[in-house]
Amino acid sequence: MSMRLRMGMIGGGPGAFIGPVHRIAAELDREIELVAGAFSSDAARSSAAGDFYRIDPARAYPDVAAMLAAEKARPDGVDFIAVVSPNHHHLPAARAALEAGFPVISDKPMTATLDEARELAALLQQAALPYGLTYTYSGYPMAREARARIAAGELGTIRKVVVEYSQGWLSQPAEGKQAEWRVDPARAGMGGCIGDIGVHAFHLAEFVTGLRVAQILPDLAAVVPGRVLDDDCSILLRFENGARGVLLASQIEVGELNGVRIRVYGDKAGLSWQQEEPNTMLLKHLDGRTEVLRAGTPQTRASVRTPGGHPEGYLEAFANLYRDFAKVLRGEPGSLLPGATDGLRGMTFIDTAVRASASQAGWVALTV
Ligand SMILES: NC(=O)c1ccc[n+]([C@@H]2O[C@H](COP(=O)([O-])OP(=O)(O)OC[C@H]3O[C@@H](n4cnc5c(N)ncnc54)[C@H](O)[C@@H]3O)[C@@H](O)[C@H]2O)c1
Repeated sequence: MSMRLRMGMIGGGPGAFIGPVHRIAAELDREIELVAGAFSSDAARSSAAGDFYRIDPARAYPDVAAMLAAEKARPDGVDFIAVVSPNHHHLPAARAALEAGFPVISDKPMTATLDEARELAALLQQAALPYGLTYTYSGYPMAREARARIAAGELGTIRKVVVEYSQGWLSQPAEGKQAEWRVDPARAGMGGCIGDIGVHAFHLAEFVTGLRVAQILPDLAAVVPGRVLDDDCSILLRFENGARGVLLASQIEVGELNGVRIRVYGDKAGLSWQQEEPNTMLLKHLDGRTEVLRAGTPQTRASVRTPGGHPEGYLEAFANLYRDFAKVLRGEPGSLLPGATDGLRGMTFIDTAVRASASQAGWVALTV
């Protein structure tokens, strides 16, 4: 029997959003256990988070350096580090972990800027340690099913992709812990909405179609008065095979929650999937028939945990990414977890879109 992998967390302090999600997702399959953390830049808050997660109080550390040094010295020290702090901290956190010899799984975007992403990619090459990036939507059973069907040629040649991520929670001047760093360039990085959710849509489009975006025509706006970073993005896409696409991402679409939707059309069939109804995908045929595909049926068994019809969602999709990371760490095949190449592509997308929109450059190439 293989041992459970031990996880150390950076970020995920009191009131944080995604840290607790990572904890649940990592532990869902009993492959991984959270045992240590530098959960906050404030020592008392890190310790309070340690209580919340019910880990050994001695392993809730005052800062990242203390955690890495102590865990390295323990015979039962952590096997890898999860980075779930805000964007500006992704590079320093990952760098410190890699230098201490630990594999890293990080939340997106890879870093705050493209230069930082290049630095991290170079560090990863030197370190030759596993690195995973949690583009959540690639963990959903039906997103994986869409990818498999497109790869098998069921849609024929892909000609059109429409991908969207719509939210409304930043429709007003930002308030609260999650909002305040996301609208601050010093902590969010060069992208606002595009770095927070546009990059999810970008990755989903490339993941599902298996195609790369070659060129973009971006129109980014900071709609809420006084906001520096973009909060609304409309982007035309051209894929490497000539397919056309549209990517819409917004945080000012009042009333929208997490409207991630993708539609892909080939010359034989089309498909559509949305994450607020994640267990259903529609496959549309030339003769007018629409097939309803459901998660939990034999094709998707590998990425669901309960019999079909029992709804699974965000947490299980996240857990699929952790299950993949466990496979990578154990040297087993079959992982679909995004990594440094996807991270660099995402950062190139953000950087190119922000610059080209500001200078009204028109169509620009995505060169990674
Ligand atoms: N994949 C997804 O679906 C998804 C969803 C939400 C957020 N995210 C990403 O996760 C990251 C965190 O987002 P969030 O909404 O949880 O933010 P948050 O503000 O809720 O939490 C961030 C946490 O990091 C801690 N932190 C900050 N600096 C630190 C440091 N120097 N050392 C240790 N901890 C530190 C903060 O104290 C806080 O507890 C962001 O990069 C965001 O883009 C991804």
